[in-house]
Amino acid sequence: MEPIRIGVLGLGTVGSGTVSVLHRNAGEIARRAGRGIDVVRAAARHPDRERSCDLTGIEVTGDARAVVDDPDIEVVVELIGGTDAARELVLRAIRQGKHVVTANKALIALHGNEVFSAARAAGVIIAFEAAVAGAIPVIKSVREGLAGNRIRSLAGIINGTCNYILTAMQSVGKPFDEVLAEAQALGYAEADPTFDVEGIDAAHKLTILASIAFGHPLQFERVHVEGLGVVEPADISYADQLGYRIKHLGVARHSERGIEMRVHPTMVPKQHLLASVDGVMNAVLIEGDAAGPIVCHGAGAGAEPTASSVVADLVDVVRTLTTDPDQRVPHLAFQPDRIANLPLLAMEEVETAYYLRMLAEDRPGVLAELASIFGELDISIEAVVQREPPRGVRQVHLIMLTHQVRESRMDTAVARIEASSCVEGSVTRIRVEHFGAE
Ligand code: HSE
Repeated sequence: MEPIRIGVLGLGTVGSGTVSVLHRNAGEIARRAGRGIDVVRAAARHPDRERSCDLTGIEVTGDARAVVDDPDIEVVVELIGGTDAARELVLRAIRQGKHVVTANKALIALHGNEVFSAARAAGVIIAFEAAVAGAIPVIKSVREGLAGNRIRSLAGIINGTCNYILTAMQSVGKPFDEVLAEAQALGYAEADPTFDVEGIDAAHKLTILASIAFGHPLQFERVHVEGLGVVEPADISYADQLGYRIKHLGVARHSERGIEMRVHPTMVPKQHLLASVDGVMNAVLIEGDAAGPIVCHGAGAGAEPTASSVVADLVDVVRTLTTDPDQRVPHLAFQPDRIANLPLLAMEEVETAYYLRMLAEDRPGVLAELASIFGELDISIEAVVQREPPRGVRQVHLIMLTHQVRESRMDTAVARIEASSCVEGSVTRIRVEHFGAE
């Protein structure tokens, strides 16, 4: 059979990695797909720039539309990122009856509902495994491998840059800026790293995972998003003393009350698998009612790890072209007419345990006053830590761990503590999750 001809949009980190993997593993890939996969054209913003991959036989242009419109190209691989140009190019490819593979989480999280509906109308495939957690086949695992389960929850370290920063803060105490610059130099951070450190990138990925797990439309705007900002070296050290690690997690849970989707720094017990995921590695914990807990762990970014997922999608596309188009795996795992508007919980309704850090007066009655605020609000305290202050200092860091409480009630408690004269400044809060670990 003739090789399938593809066009690659974007020759940055992932684009170059994809060309390299397709080239190096061409024989093995063809054995799996049933035919070869040839990159015949590629588009890059700087077509003449030196690349890390071998571009022999590939016509490189600065005009992405020309690649999409080329009648010889059957599959378009979108690796330019962003939403404006990418959305236009992907819809243009779909309208021309071309299959699309993309690594673009922002595109899927923000415009996936539109893109999928266009793809269904045109009868083409849109595959996006590389959009979430780089090399880890987590979309395939949830959508296909766990298709027999009612998924209860997902919790993931899904931003390598945040994990790299937290790991470095934990292990070597390097300053935030220096660690972020290292992550950028290694090609892990987004072009705009605020997307990483403010949690937007993780929220894009969580949006996709939650829809695939629970079968509701993509709703990025409903994700509660917090970045790394609140976490100070002192919190990492207090968490350590209390038996926890701080991780930046995306959490999606389906309870009887509804679905919660949230991204924020989270304390997890040191002995939990997620606590030992370090550096730029990603991991996703999935809880199915039949399967129980499953953890997928691996490289969440980088040229070839992400290319691994792009190429797997290409192999899927090639295989699917030889089967009944109506029997394709649905984009969001559930049949399009069975996607349901399930109730989504507002963040105020979510229940978690909390770590609270505050600067308190070191004098009699302070602890009693704070304890009475918690007591009146029926919030149960699990642990309190107060270190002896240096001589002459009247204020101390007071750390409190609480049992599970609804967010709205904790909002009230924090507001009352911050208004109290025995506490100065704001209260830092980090949610605590145990995920079944003892
Ligand atoms: N910026 C992302 C991360 C890379 O740090 O995980 C891939 O999505």
